[in-house]
Amino acid sequence: MADKDGLKVAKDYHIDEDFGNQKAFHVKGCNNLDWGMKKHLSNIFDPKSGNTVMFAFDHGYFMGSTAGLERLDLVVPKLFPAVDVLMGTRGAIRSCIPPNCGKSIALRVSSGSSMLNDDLSHEVIAVDMEDSIRMNADCVAVQTFIGADGQLSSIDNLSRTINAANRYSVPVLGVVAVGKDMERTDRFFKLATRIIAEMGASIIKTYYCDNFEEVVAACPVPIVVAGGKKLPEEEALTLAYRSIQGGAKGLDMGRNIFQSEHSLEMAFAIRKIVHEGFTDKEALEFYKDSIGGR
Ligand code: R5P
Repeated sequence: MADKDGLKVAKDYHIDEDFGNQKAFHVKGCNNLDWGMKKHLSNIFDPKSGNTVMFAFDHGYFMGSTAGLERLDLVVPKLFPAVDVLMGTRGAIRSCIPPNCGKSIALRVSSGSSMLNDDLSHEVIAVDMEDSIRMNADCVAVQTFIGADGQLSSIDNLSRTINAANRYSVPVLGVVAVGKDMERTDRFFKLATRIIAEMGASIIKTYYCDNFEEVVAACPVPIVVAGGKKLPEEEALTLAYRSIQGGAKGLDMGRNIFQSEHSLEMAFAIRKIVHEGFTDKEALEFYKDSIGGR
């Protein structure tokens, strides 16, 4: 472990320079991976735009029935045309998602707390690699609690999952958790995303923040930005636009899609930003046109 005395402040991020080991493959930091990993990652990240629209509906794993997700069987299939990846639990996917949906699967495999707990940071790996492969998951998602009480066990969960997933060329999506007492600063997100990437995750889900470009530059694998609590549509589209402008390779939104009054139109507006280079203003116009007078 490096000596902490006399640490210098990291500041040389070269944010104007492209990533150094990109070569032919379109997913950042994944050029050296094998065919199976690259195939899964290509199912997630569109080879043309390089980006992805993930739809998160895994909230039930600790929140139970969530406003807007009361009927997964009705809500999720409606959004298929607008999203690339479905991020959910195995129970939700097996019971409510038709296997011929043609969508990539990001399978949540960590669990162990509920909203009745004060401390959500202690989890276990609830889904083993064998069942993840049976689900044909394109990646498995592990919540990671850097700086929280459960840090050690969540890094253990993450590492064990990466060790198991690497045997079968399944990418791991490391999810940065933010507890109610944790800072949402670029300092924290640089620390958390970098630790998770260095553990070996192939994709990181984190939050947008000031100096987001530096968070992206310091993270050697692609970042997808989490949505968070429901915002007015205009603000959510600005968040999506700033994230992509800042170097995110996609959005992984839940409530900002499924709690929107016009969830499909909202998902399509986000898609325009992610895959077609729309600005937030253009996407908002598109959204308003799509909902018409409704
Ligand atoms: C995020 O860390 C978890 O995967 C959540 O359950 C979910 O993805 C949150 O989505 P959103 O905050 O966009 O509703």
